[in-house]
Amino acid sequence: MNFTSTSTSTCILVTGGAGYIGSHVVKALGEAGYRVVTYDNLSTGHPWAVLYGDLVVADLADREKLRDVFNHYKPKAVMHFAAHVVVPESVRNPLKYYRNNTVNAVNLLETCLEFGVESFIFSSTAAVYGEPQEIPIDEGAPLEPINPYGQSKVLVEKILADCTRAYPFRYVSLRYFNVAGADVQGRIGQVSPGPTHLITRALKTALGQIDRLEIYGTDYPTPDGTCIRDYIHVDDLAHAHTLALEYLLSGGDSRVYNCGYGHGYSVREVVDKAKEVMGIDFPVVESGRREGDPPALVADSSRIREELHWQPQYDDLAYIIKTAWEWEKALQRRRKA
Ligand code: UFG
Repeated sequence: MNFTSTSTSTCILVTGGAGYIGSHVVKALGEAGYRVVTYDNLSTGHPWAVLYGDLVVADLADREKLRDVFNHYKPKAVMHFAAHVVVPESVRNPLKYYRNNTVNAVNLLETCLEFGVESFIFSSTAAVYGEPQEIPIDEGAPLEPINPYGQSKVLVEKILADCTRAYPFRYVSLRYFNVAGADVQGRIGQVSPGPTHLITRALKTALGQIDRLEIYGTDYPTPDGTCIRDYIHVDDLAHAHTLALEYLLSGGDSRVYNCGYGHGYSVREVVDKAKEVMGIDFPVVESGRREGDPPALVADSSRIREELHWQPQYDDLAYIIKTAWEWEKALQRRRKA
């Protein structure tokens, strides 16, 4: 292990900090003056995505390495992003998800407790709600995940709640809705070899990397028959994390917050906006429903707005798509170079 940082400012350990959301949070932490150490096995992350602090390449299953890192950096708080996130894969291989997302979270929590780290921020997901009965969804809605990915996150939330009752420990769980967009300076963004997300697939279709974009289902009980999602820019989400961190470090109690803007767009609306932003009329076909897609997922985000004073800066679908588009083009140039 090559430890280089010697700063004495507050150190935050970020697992999965080389991944899409984690790297944007590392950037936000670095910009805010925190000392950061990223712990990532690089299974889907990239070393170049870590713009601030140190990177330790290791797996959360490696308890000894975790202890070494806690011992050396003495983090004041932990932000836990490292997880598998592909819903259909979780259906095919649930144990992979329970081991990495749930068991490894327990490893991390045990290490936190061993080293007296009391503040923990957890990457949760709207997938914990399954197919919600009411839209917008508030944090009190029933947790009824419909796939092992969502279940693996619900289990961690329950473990976190138990920990607060048993130990000197507090957490904030942030339930992400549909995260999209990229760093406005084009330095980091989403990289996935087999992307499943709508906006990324639309951009790759425009670039000719995918033949045509399929719209999965046009017979949903929504105004235009396609699914509605609440798309949130990744930098707004990153800011929610720094607010949650400040809240915990100043002694705040455990909380759960939805992270979304509180309004949604249908698949057709996203496709039309993507064509407009890129100025490219890419091929689109209508096809059948994708298994496990709820008709609508829209956050009631009033709790985080009121309690943490979270004020989104990029609540604009065109801006979200534009930053993702700039990133996708940069990625293509990088691959060709
Ligand atoms: N869609 C298409 N065509 C595509 C890709 C997606 O029509 O090529 C549709 C999907 O069917 C869905 C919508 O676009 O209706 C959004 O799909 P995404 O795959 O972009 O995102 P999801 O809503 O399925 O899931 C995302 C994350 C999950 C998280 C969820 C919470 O991937 O981890 O948001 O809102 F749980």
